[in-house]
Amino acid sequence: MQDQFFKEALTHKVFEYITKATDELGLDSYVIGGFVRDFILKRGNAKDIDVVTIGSGIELAQKVASLLPNKPKVQVFKTYGTAMLRFNDIEVEFVGARKESYTENSRNPEVSVGTLQDDQDRRDFTINALALSLNAKSFGKLLDPFDGIGDLDRKTIRTPLNPDITYSDDPLRMMRAIRFATQLNFTIEKTSLDAIKSNVERIKIITKERIVDEINKIMASPKPSIGFLLLEKTGLLNKILPELIALKGVEEVEGQTHKDNFYHTLEVVDNISENTNDVWLRWAALLHDIGKAPTKKFDKRNGWTFHSHEFIGSKMVYKLFKRLKMPLNNKMKFVQKMVLLSSRPIVLASEVTDSAVRRLIFDAGDDIDSLMILCEADITTKNPKKFRRYHKNFEIVRLKIKEVEERDRVRNFQPPITGEEIMKTFNLKPCREIGQIKEAIKEAILEGEIPNEYEASYNFMIKKAKEIGLVAQTEF
Ligand code: CTP
Repeated sequence: MQDQFFKEALTHKVFEYITKATDELGLDSYVIGGFVRDFILKRGNAKDIDVVTIGSGIELAQKVASLLPNKPKVQVFKTYGTAMLRFNDIEVEFVGARKESYTENSRNPEVSVGTLQDDQDRRDFTINALALSLNAKSFGKLLDPFDGIGDLDRKTIRTPLNPDITYSDDPLRMMRAIRFATQLNFTIEKTSLDAIKSNVERIKIITKERIVDEINKIMASPKPSIGFLLLEKTGLLNKILPELIALKGVEEVEGQTHKDNFYHTLEVVDNISENTNDVWLRWAALLHDIGKAPTKKFDKRNGWTFHSHEFIGSKMVYKLFKRLKMPLNNKMKFVQKMVLLSSRPIVLASEVTDSAVRRLIFDAGDDIDSLMILCEADITTKNPKKFRRYHKNFEIVRLKIKEVEERDRVRNFQPPITGEEIMKTFNLKPCREIGQIKEAIKEAILEGEIPNEYEASYNFMIKKAKEIGLVAQTEF
């Protein structure tokens, strides 16, 4: 009965060929890991399959490739004793069962040939150590020495061995535990969780790129706060994103407190995740308040203030991306821009003037919609009256944005008068006055003094130029 259930997992054409190759070579092979886990959890079609064989994974891969109709190329990774091939929509990785141990300061394992049980012992979690036989005589038989099925049922992440051993084999697994807990909404079993706390220092041997991959998977989950709270609780967050830890805590001076910006931030990330799958916008939510730690001040008149925290925060985004070796590209610039503008619509929500809306559209450009999503997610007040009022005000801001956009076309604004035209009109060589006039025209349009049109801008230019002592050579 159980075998029949698991046979359903193995209907992809590629398994026929793996079984044939396995039996022809006289080996034992199994599909193992995420593929089996995700089949049981019904997580949709798998894109990769991990096959472990009691023998040479490379030899098996080559045999499978020779039997497959498309004769795919086999990519061999000698150091790891693994090989990979592609067939239709699926990528298959082959590995020989191994008994391995990792050296103290590196991820590179020392490998010797092992049994299936040895291989399962060295895997990260019980739910990832489930194996299904691929030999014809036992096709679909489940091998589950650590009750991974029970853990799937109990929604539990647990290491197969003593977690100190499992994590020291590959400290990234501490992040993986938290990432799986977040993606699957599982709980990390106590010993496996406590061991993260005691092994936290070991994360330093892991490359930044692998760490960021895990953070991005946490970030892309339905409720990212699950992961960030676990990262915080275990001490990993302090190693990876200390800027967030600096937001923790509530201070009180003369009876005045401010909100805990760490928990607030996590609420904002969860809120935004209900409205966007864009991980960069989610990153913006995560980092929108990081400037608050270094700018926090208390003064008797104004209480707690965080002056220029958006500006400081956007500078910190660059440093943080650089430190984590994240690409310093347009995505980073987008996050910086969102952080920089993150308080603007909120200010607007209390007083919506045409000119403030025009300025906002001008500054945000095509990212105005993302910015509005961020700002609405930023409403975390527990006072229902205020909550309703803020959201209502944002609706007004959105309407106003639409209205001003239709009328004034200031998104991706290009001033109707170019620098060249100013030079020609006043017979000027490049000089400071050109910039002055251009800026004045832009200001006048954004302030609503003149419409965003050529003729009005031209007349304004003549007037402005006169004020600074310039005379037009040609009049409009
Ligand atoms: N694995 C491990 N330790 C790691 C990484 C992977 O033991 N640090 C094992 C696990 O058995 C895992 C399998 O290798 O199931 C495949 O790894 P990977 O493709 O990274 O993860 P999946 O479990 O397939 O999940 P996902 O694709 O979501 O990353």
